[in-house]
Amino acid sequence: MKQYKRYLVTSALPYANGPVHIGHLAGVYVPADIYVRYLRLRGREVKFIGGSDEHGVPITIKARKEGVTPQDIVDKYHLIIKDSFERFGISFDIYSRTSSKIHHQTASDFFRKLYDEGVFVEKTTAQYYDEEAGQFLADRYIVGTCPTCGNDNAYGDQCEKCGSTLSPTELINPHSAISGSKPVLRDTTHWYLPLDRYEPWLRQWILEEHREWKPNVYGQCKSWLDGGLQPRAVSRDLDWGVPVPVDGAKGKVLYVWFDAPIGYLSNTIELLPDEWEMWWKDEDTKMVHFIGKDNIVFHCIVFPAMLKAHGGFILPENVPANEFLNLENDKISTSRNWAVWLHEYLDEFPGKEDVLRYVLCANAPETKDNDFTWTDFQTRNNSELVAILGNFVNRALMLAHKYFDGHVPPIHTLTDYDEATLNEIPVIKQSMENNIETYHFRDALKDAMNLARLGNKYISDTEPWKLAASQSPRVATIIHVAIRICANIAIAFEPFLPFTMQKLRYMLGMNAVSWDTFGQPDILAGIRRLKEPQLLFDKIEDADIDRQKARLQAAAAAPPPSLPSLPPQKEPCTYDDFMKTDIRTATVIKAERVPKTDRLLKLTVDTGLDTRTVVSGIAQYYTPEAIYGKQICLLANLEPRTIKGIKSQGMILMAQQPDGTMRIIQPEERMENGAIIS
Ligand code: 2FM
Ligand code: ZN
Repeated sequence: MKQYKRYLVTSALPYANGPVHIGHLAGVYVPADIYVRYLRLRGREVKFIGGSDEHGVPITIKARKEGVTPQDIVDKYHLIIKDSFERFGISFDIYSRTSSKIHHQTASDFFRKLYDEGVFVEKTTAQYYDEEAGQFLADRYIVGTCPTCGNDNAYGDQCEKCGSTLSPTELINPHSAISGSKPVLRDTTHWYLPLDRYEPWLRQWILEEHREWKPNVYGQCKSWLDGGLQPRAVSRDLDWGVPVPVDGAKGKVLYVWFDAPIGYLSNTIELLPDEWEMWWKDEDTKMVHFIGKDNIVFHCIVFPAMLKAHGGFILPENVPANEFLNLENDKISTSRNWAVWLHEYLDEFPGKEDVLRYVLCANAPETKDNDFTWTDFQTRNNSELVAILGNFVNRALMLAHKYFDGHVPPIHTLTDYDEATLNEIPVIKQSMENNIETYHFRDALKDAMNLARLGNKYISDTEPWKLAASQSPRVATIIHVAIRICANIAIAFEPFLPFTMQKLRYMLGMNAVSWDTFGQPDILAGIRRLKEPQLLFDKIEDADIDRQKARLQAAAAAPPPSLPSLPPQKEPCTYDDFMKTDIRTATVIKAERVPKTDRLLKLTVDTGLDTRTVVSGIAQYYTPEAIYGKQICLLANLEPRTIKGIKSQGMILMAQQPDGTMRIIQPEERMENGAIIS
C-alpha cells in the first residue's frame, strides 16, 4: 500500500441554516474526528478541514420567512454550529465559512479557469419564474400535481408519494412554493459542466481503480455511471452566492454544489496561505472526504470531474460515506423538529460529550441506516461505559491505592496467564489499526472496549484482594499488569473519548501519549504516583431518559421559543477597582457534591500557590466527574466565606447565558496553575 506523507481530511460543510444534530455527527463528524485524532496520535502530518456551507436557496427562503437577510441567517447558525463542534471536541484545524472573501475569490477563480478553457457548455432554456417574488424558482420550490399518481404536493424534481423523478414542466397546475402564485416560463442562460465527457475517465478511476471504496459508496457511483451522466448546470438565477464571474451574468451565482466543495480548498488556503499547494497538488497527500450518503454523487463524481477539468489538483483517495441515522424509529427531520440537536445535548448533559461520541460511534450507520434511541443511549452508558470501562479503571486504581499507596509496584514474576494477558494488547492494537485505516470505526471501538474487558477479566481471575492478606509478592505483579492495561486504554480510547482520556491520563500521571507507546512494555515508565481515582462515567437514570423522550415529543409538537435577551451593562468600574482582583489559573483536583443541596459542588483546587477549597454553585451544569481535572480561572483573593459549613476560598469564573446556562472559563490551552489573568 502507498505510504503518504500527509493527510488532508475534510468533512462535509453543513448548511448554516440550522444547528447540527446527531445524524450529522454519526454520519460525518464523529468518524472524521476519530480518524484525524488517530492519525495525530500516530504522529502523521494531518490537517482537518471544516466549515459552514452558507449558500443555496433554502437559506434565502429562510431569510425571507424571518424577514432578515441571508447573511443574518448564516451568521447566526455558523456561530452555533462552530461553537457546538468545539464543545463536542471535533478537532478541526480550521472551521471557516463559504461567505468569506477568500472563498468567494477561490470559487470565482476556479469557475473562471474552467470558463476560459472552454470546459462549460452554455445553454438557454425556459425555466419557471415567480413574478410576485421576482425570482426564478429552483425545482424544489415548484409544487404541483404529479402526472403519474395525481399527488397534489409533488415537487418540481420529484414526487415523494410515488417516487417518480420529474422535471418542473411535467407538473400539472404548477405553483410557486414561495408566493403561491402561478409561475411563468422565462428563458435563462446557464453554464453546464459536461459530466458526460468525463464518464469514461470516471468509470476507470472509480470502478477500476477504487474497488476498495465502501460498498455503499462504490455501489451508488456504479449506479450513477451505469445510468449515464448528463451535463449539470453550475450556475443559478439568485442573488445570494458567489457571483458568476462573466460579463453579462448579473443576477447569476454559482450553484451551491459547485462552490461548496471548493470550500475545502479555500479553507486550506486560509489555514495555510504559504503551503496549501503542497496539500492540494502533491501526490504524497492523501485526501479523504467524510460525508453522508446524500453527498456521494457530488464528492465522487461532480467534484472530481471539476478537479480533473481544472487540472493540477490531487483527487480524493477515499470517500468513506456513511448511511443515515434515524431517531426513535423515525427519519430525523429538521422541519418537523425531530432531532437531537448537538448544542441542546451539550447543555442537557454537561460533561457527557464522550457518552454521545461513544454511542454514535458504537451505533454508527457505517453499512446501513441505523437507529438512535434514548433507551439504547442509557444502556450503552450504564452497561458498557460505566460497567466495563469505568469499572475496570476504577478497580485497578483503587487496588494500587489500597495496597501500594498509589504507587505502581514493580513486576515480581510474570506467570503464563499474565504473559498471555499482556500479549493480547499488541493484537488489539493491530486490529484497531487495520480497522481505523479501513474506516471501520465501530469495530475499532469494539477492539478498544476489549482492552477493558481483558482488564476486568484479569482482575476477577487473579483476585489480588485474596492474596493480599498473605502478603504475596504476586499482588504487586497483578496490580502492575492492571495499571499497564489502564495506560494502554488511555491511548486506545483517545481518538474516541478524548475528554475522558484526558482525565484518565491525569489520574495516571501520563503526559503526552503516542500510538507508538501503545503495547510497549515500558508504557508505565515515567509514571510516579497515581492520583486519587475518580469515576470516569456515572450512571444515567431512567428519569433523565424519560425527560429526553418527553422533550423530543414536545419539541416536535412546537418549536422552542427564542432565547431571552442579554442583561444590560453594569455600572462603570475603575481601572483600580479591576486591578484589585487577583485572578489565576487553577486545576480542580477533587470534586464532590455538597450534601443536601442541588446547586453546590465542593471543589479542591490546585492554585499553584496552595491547595484550597472552593464551594461553587455549578452542580446543575457540571457533575463532579465532569469538572474533575479541568483547568479553571479563580478569583483567588475573594474574602473567604462559609457556605453550608464549608470555608470557601475564592470564586470560579463562569460565563452565563440569558437562559441561565453556565460554563466555566478556561485558558485557550492548558497553562501552569497560578498564572495571572489580567
Ligand atoms: O448536504 C449538505 O449539508 C451540504 N451542505 C454538504 C456540502 S459538502 C461540501 F461540498 F461542502
Ligand atoms: Zn406521484
